[in-house]
Formats: sequence, C-alpha cells, structure tokens
Amino acid sequence: MIDKEKIAIASDHGGYRLKEEIKKLLTDKGYEVVDFGAGNGGESVHYPIYGIKTAKAVSKGEFKRAILICGTGIGMSIVANKFPGVRGTLCHNLFTAKMSRQHNDSNLLILGGRILDPVEAEGVVKMWLETPFEGGRHQERLDMITNIEKGIV
Ligand code: RB5
Repeated sequence: MIDKEKIAIASDHGGYRLKEEIKKLLTDKGYEVVDFGAGNGGESVHYPIYGIKTAKAVSKGEFKRAILICGTGIGMSIVANKFPGVRGTLCHNLFTAKMSRQHNDSNLLILGGRILDPVEAEGVVKMWLETPFEGGRHQERLDMITNIEKGIV
C-alpha cells in the first residue's frame, strides 16, 4: 500500500471555520491531515502559537507541506517565514496559488479566513497542491534566499 502524504494544518480563531472546511477537502483527496490546532471551536487564541508549531514541523522535515490560516493570513506569514527552509506564501486567488508553486516552490500555504470564502479557498488549495515547481532560474533565486538562512549574505 502506498503511504498517504501527510499534510499539517493549523489556524487561529480567524481561520478556524475555514480550517475545518479545508481538512474535509484534504481528507477527501486522500491526504493524512495532522491538525496542530486551534481546536477550541473558534475562541480567541494567539496565532503565533499555532504558526510556530506548524512551521517548525515543516522546517524540521516532519512535513513536506502545511497550511496555516488566520484572519488575514498576514500574521501567519510573518511567523512561518522565520523558520529555515519554510517558504510560506499568502495566496488570495488562483493566480497567486499557481505562481507560489511554479516560481517559489511554496511548501507552506497561508490563507486569510476572513478574506476567502470556502469555495474560493478550495480552488486555491487545489491549485497549490497540484501545481509543480518549475525549477531552473527560479531555483537559483531560491538558493539566494537559502543563503540568507545560512548567513552567507
Ligand atoms: C485576529 O483577530 C487576527 O489579528 C489574526 O487572525 C490575523 O489576521 C493576524 O494577522
């Protein structure tokens, strides 16, 4: 039997409802979904707690991909991109989702739960999951970013 790809997901209260929708979509598509919270049904929580847990797991190589959701996606973006090896991309539409994979090899999708409705978000998630990285000149550019993490620049 082929192992299912694992995908991590987390949100604060601003993304809680959308997280629950996206979990269903991922499960239906055959992914093993690991939910890092928040699991409180939408009560106010601090987004860095959930962003840190998830981005750290991607940075450590425990997950190839993850999804983070807060109200705007901005707070989660700031958190996620502090972690080496994490390429967190805030995507508001199909175009940014496609580019985030083709050009940026995004490994962490960030969504705004107060920006996208569930139908729009599902389209964004599907595009992000299904679009391959183009490599080539884009890999050279990502290598320059990795050099920042290595302290070379
Ligand atoms: C919570 O009110 C909100 O600040 C948070 O979900 C997020 O949008 C932060 O960037």
